[in-house]
Amino acid sequence: RPPASGSPSTAKGQAGAAAVAAVVPAVSGPVVLGLATGSSPLGLYRELERAQGEGRVDLRAAHGVALDEYVGLPAGHPQSYREVLRREVGDRLGIDDARLHVPDGAHDDEASLAAAAADYEETIRGLGGVDVQILGIGVNGHLGFNEPGSALTSRTRVKRLAASTREENARFFDSVDDVPTHCVTQGLGTVLSARRLVLVATGEAKARAVANAVEGPLTASCPASVLQWHADAVAVLDEAAAGLL
Ligand code: GLP
Repeated sequence: RPPASGSPSTAKGQAGAAAVAAVVPAVSGPVVLGLATGSSPLGLYRELERAQGEGRVDLRAAHGVALDEYVGLPAGHPQSYREVLRREVGDRLGIDDARLHVPDGAHDDEASLAAAAADYEETIRGLGGVDVQILGIGVNGHLGFNEPGSALTSRTRVKRLAASTREENARFFDSVDDVPTHCVTQGLGTVLSARRLVLVATGEAKARAVANAVEGPLTASCPASVLQWHADAVAVLDEAAAGLL
């Protein structure tokens, strides 16, 4: 694995990591980090790794809590979010598997999936809630896998993925047909329960979703608009993603 110093440092990564690290001193006991997948937070994760390497923050005892997981991928599938978060965060920050919590999507019946979703809410509660939730945003304004139309107070549950989301995520699979049709995702209410939210978005493709989330009405048609409901939400954007603000 290349050392953190081998990856370029970016202003966005630094700003995002600073917004995350700032909460750490105020937390008594292990920090609970809410983790998003996708490309947007990767720079932030690299900066946290760098900061830890330089002794500026210590997350080695932290818990990681994933936002979501695909349904039906076998354990160990490289595109399962458990594996992605292990590679991108756990292995790099020293958060071992026992402290990396991901919804269990490896079931093929509704009852087991509903039980896995309920268990996940229990896990988060047992940890005392999420201290700082790192978020990306979908082109359609989704948060985690809460697609447009998701209830604003929803909790962790099984959802069907929007066709557009499956197409966007097809780049990680051999073909769009291999992208799972369903997921287990934290609900918008679950996300809102975190003490701080840090949203990261880059690129023009996200500009409309960002503008709707930050300045549009609070509505289920833009799930990320729930950020406006939160007392401590930070958005870390590049010029392009902020272009319609
Ligand atoms: C997936 C994840 C989301 C993420 C989104 C955007 O659908 N479930 O949590 O925010 O992708 O990904 P990217 O940051 O690569 O644009």
